[in-house]
Amino acid sequence: MGLISDLRILYHLALHPIRGATHAERLDNFYRGQAEGYDTFRERLLRGRDELWAALPVPAGGVWLDLGGGTGANAERLGERIGALRKFYIVDLAPSLLAIARRRIAQRGWTHVEAVEADATEFVPAEGAADVVTFSYSLTMIPDWFAAVDHAWRVLRPGGHIGVVDFYVSRKHPAAPGMARHGWLTRHFWPAWFGGDNVFPSPDHLPYLLRRFEPVSLLENRAAVPYLPLARVPYYLFIGLKPQ
Ligand SMILES: C[S@@+](CC[C@H](N)C(=O)[O-])C[C@H]1O[C@@H](n2cnc3c(N)ncnc32)[C@H](O)[C@@H]1O
Repeated sequence: MGLISDLRILYHLALHPIRGATHAERLDNFYRGQAEGYDTFRERLLRGRDELWAALPVPAGGVWLDLGGGTGANAERLGERIGALRKFYIVDLAPSLLAIARRRIAQRGWTHVEAVEADATEFVPAEGAADVVTFSYSLTMIPDWFAAVDHAWRVLRPGGHIGVVDFYVSRKHPAAPGMARHGWLTRHFWPAWFGGDNVFPSPDHLPYLLRRFEPVSLLENRAAVPYLPLARVPYYLFIGLKPQ
């Protein structure tokens, strides 16, 4: 079962052509055939999510937007703490992943968690503002990622937090002293490798986040990749603050 599920996912990652005239159509075309096995496979591919969720504050009565939230697995990472929130939104453009999120919400009996089909560059909660905004491996899949970051800034209330975990590559000349510097192969291989799935690790996401928000913490790391022995893909965890 595990191997068959992995093979199905690997087929979609490596061979299945992605079709669609719009970004939303391409996303659902990519995810539809792998939605059921998504969470199990991504636990081994998308590292750092537990650490990010553990480090983010959960304000009592707060509103949390998980932009590009997919199946809603990240809501689980809050554990009991999710009960402190007034509302947790899972915002995504792929109906096949949102269907898994809605099933999870029903199974958990979460009455204050809502899965919404909407664009991360535009979604505004009914409450008008958010206390926490997260992008978990979604910024690399949002073509207008800069609009998504700008939107997160607009929708956050002053004093609110942004948390981002994602793949990236460094600039040839890192944006700030002390930041990781990746070699030529890393900087060229990973964008080419992920680009086939419309995932775009960028040298510019992190510098833009650092410019837009007051940094609270930053961790740059590398992770193993299932079925790619020896490969170590770079990823980062960023927590930032919108100043009061
Ligand atoms: C790699 S998945 C990550 C899902 C989830 N955050 C996680 O940690 O497992 C990227 C997600 O971003 C979503 N996405 C991409 N562009 C989007 C956009 N413009 N608006 C909303 N969601 C988007 C995709 O549909 C997908 O669910």
